Amino acid sequence: MCGIVGYVGNSAARDAKDIIIDGLKKLEYRGYDSAGIALNIDGELQIRKHVGRIANLENLIAGETLASRIGIGHTRWATHGAPSDVNSHPHCNSNETIAVVHNGIIENYVEIKEWLAKEYGITFKSETDTEVIAHLIGIYYDGDLQDAVYKAVEKMRGAYAIGVVAAAEPDKIVAVRKDAPLIAGLGEDCNFIASDIPALLKHVRKIYLIENNETVVIKSDSVKIYNAERKEIKRDVFHVTWDAESAEKEGYEHFMLKEIHEQPKGLYETLTRRIEEDGSIKLDGINLSKEDIENFDKVFIVACGTAYHAGLVGKFVIENLAKIPVEIDVASEFRYRDPFVNERTLFIAISQSGETLDTLAALREAKRKGARILSVVNVVGSSVARESDDVFYTWAGPEIAVASTKAYTTQLMCMYLIGLYMGRTRGILDEERYTNYLKELKEIPDKLKELLKKENEIHDLAKEIYKKEQVFFIGRGSDAGVSYEGSLKLKEISYINSFAIAAGELKHGTIALIEKDTLVIALATQEKLYEKMLSNIQEVKARGAYVIGIAKENNTEIEKQADRVIYIPNCIDEISPLLSVVPLQILAYYIARERGCDIDKPKNLAKSVTVE
Ligand code: M6R
Repeated sequence: MCGIVGYVGNSAARDAKDIIIDGLKKLEYRGYDSAGIALNIDGELQIRKHVGRIANLENLIAGETLASRIGIGHTRWATHGAPSDVNSHPHCNSNETIAVVHNGIIENYVEIKEWLAKEYGITFKSETDTEVIAHLIGIYYDGDLQDAVYKAVEKMRGAYAIGVVAAAEPDKIVAVRKDAPLIAGLGEDCNFIASDIPALLKHVRKIYLIENNETVVIKSDSVKIYNAERKEIKRDVFHVTWDAESAEKEGYEHFMLKEIHEQPKGLYETLTRRIEEDGSIKLDGINLSKEDIENFDKVFIVACGTAYHAGLVGKFVIENLAKIPVEIDVASEFRYRDPFVNERTLFIAISQSGETLDTLAALREAKRKGARILSVVNVVGSSVARESDDVFYTWAGPEIAVASTKAYTTQLMCMYLIGLYMGRTRGILDEERYTNYLKELKEIPDKLKELLKKENEIHDLAKEIYKKEQVFFIGRGSDAGVSYEGSLKLKEISYINSFAIAAGELKHGTIALIEKDTLVIALATQEKLYEKMLSNIQEVKARGAYVIGIAKENNTEIEKQADRVIYIPNCIDEISPLLSVVPLQILAYYIARERGCDIDKPKNLAKSVTVE
């Protein structure tokens, strides 16, 4: 993953170093193992890099002036080579006249490395794949950076966005994109490259979205884009409409808590923008005709992590509302198992970032097999969005915390809307059920606001249980799907070993792990499965478990079984995941806080996973 930023300006009043470091801070969500910067100062490249957060890099250069008008920077999520000073980017050729920042993986780097060592006697300082790019460009360089980059890229296989500077060309940055995000920002007497829009929002609103196999050359007064045939091409300007403040913490201690509290708004936006005055649903960005919808014989939902968990609920919803079989898979498995997908398949890709490489690769595989591609995406203009036939945006706003919260609930809302629309179009849903369902969905934002008032109660509970080293989440039906998400939230930010399982499956093995005081979080929000869940709770209680139940307000019977109960507002069973996940998010947040964890930037993770 990793984030890259590049800046070229023509005013001494604007310092490249400050601009780049500021931009990198906005990309730390992409990785934060180490950070570095390369600046061209009087025709020499000055490289500074340090393992750890960007703050470490700032400390390193604190006493230096390093005034410059051009530079590139990087924040890393390690793939090849452990996080260390020497493995940090930028990487250079042998005489440090070329510097490269890279996001992605060069799959044939070993081959290139051996070739460079054998043919040119090059020795390597780092264990990274990136260093070979710098050396490759170095051997091809004869005064024309753009040409040397082209030649180097011809030798490289894999996924990358790279930014390159040369000591002898202090006026330009050359950048290339292949399967990793890259944008160019258009400023006044200055221009930028970056992995993502937040890095540039302080300075620009006008963006070029760079496509695969394109090269962009930025100078202070020009931005030129070239296609794979090296022909200059025109690109429409993408105007960013959201502001920098929406990506700030606004007084919350962590982005995760802020984003949990933004869910009523995100859900309201995601829903109401799609409801017409007459109560019908308009799926903006989706051009599926009645004939298309009737022609599908299968839906395939593919995603990763939290987005996959939204898909688990989506399967229930779409099968239930539209009566069409729905298969679901994690993206990294889908593409390698030759799945049954054809022209009659509706392939739904779910992704907050729209840049997750596994999801993108699965999407391409489904497209190759003729499926219609519909994506549910949060980031406008992202790769998944651009490569889809139809895009249905979640209106969650920028999600910064690595742990996904508001993206999940807005993805769920999209599943309900798609299910309702398909069900209605296929003539499955009658007017009464459709209207009641929609009415219930409209009530969700207010019910969620009520539920969020339980934050202190849940915080107190977290204080009681935060020292547990093992937690089980159980549920039935769509509650099982929410259990997976609750478990992921807890483990990724608190590092507690948590495990989710369909409650009825417990007795087939996993119950062997339940002993005195084992913490079990039991979701029991489904009326038709309520009694079954109470039995499952009894099973774990009989083995000494400490049980926290999640149930609807009118189902108080659970108090007789569980040690503690968190109630969610009443709603129809089908949509309870929109509410039941929220106490789990808050509980995970406060448990992690009590354990002193770095909540927004958990170890080993990054917000956007653009490697396979
Ligand atoms: O950007 P995406 O939705 O495609 O990301 C997929 C997963 O990497 C992501 O949901 C991840 O599991 C979350 N950070 C977990 O909270």
